[in-house]
Amino acid sequence: MLVKKAEIIITAVKEEQYPPEGVPEIALAGRSNVGKSSLINTLINRKNLARTSGQPGKTQTLNFYNINDEFRFVDLPGYGYARVSRKEREKWAEMINRYLTKRQSLREVVLLVDIRHSPGEHDKMMYDWIKSIGCTGIVIATKADKLSKNQQAKQVSVILRELGVEDRSLIIPFSATKKQNKDKVWQLFDEVLEI
Ligand code: GTP
Ligand code: MG
Repeated sequence: MLVKKAEIIITAVKEEQYPPEGVPEIALAGRSNVGKSSLINTLINRKNLARTSGQPGKTQTLNFYNINDEFRFVDLPGYGYARVSRKEREKWAEMINRYLTKRQSLREVVLLVDIRHSPGEHDKMMYDWIKSIGCTGIVIATKADKLSKNQQAKQVSVILRELGVEDRSLIIPFSATKKQNKDKVWQLFDEVLEI
């Protein structure tokens, strides 16, 4: 994928704010702070178009990005962020669920997990749900630069087992800082989008 154009379309909370249907969308799901916004920036060669932060809970809206007028990335707020009220968390969950269950243009939901940790309950639930709606089941194992290649391979096995991933090739160890496997991720996304 040669990215010629990348821009934010809108940060949405309500359905009325979503951009019009008709353009395929790839949504990025995962725990708060796992690296969803960083993945987008790395893929589109931009430092901070998608706002990132060391503090979990940075992305609090559904952020739609137009890529090449061809497709969209949808950066979702992370789940499992403890330092907000329960009410606030429920509001986010509802916002994410509404988008994920109703959106016609949604082509793929990609799950991001931190390569250093075993997937949690939220991750498992999300992955089961992703599979149940017929998505490919791509898992991006982020922050791979924090582990050696050996340790990465071991953790891929853990993630495979814990999430019940069908095929090892669906789990991509990824590093935003080192750009590890950027091409591989694009290749999978191109297949999803049939470009
Ligand atoms: P929320 O918006 O809070 O849900 O988080 P997010 O999933 O969008 O995470 P974000 O991209 O903001 O990254 C969180 C932190 O992890 C930031 O400090 C990033 O610099 C760091 N980070 C993200 N990806 C990587 C990576 O591949 N390697 C390393 N070492 N750090 C990373
Ligand atoms: Mg974010």
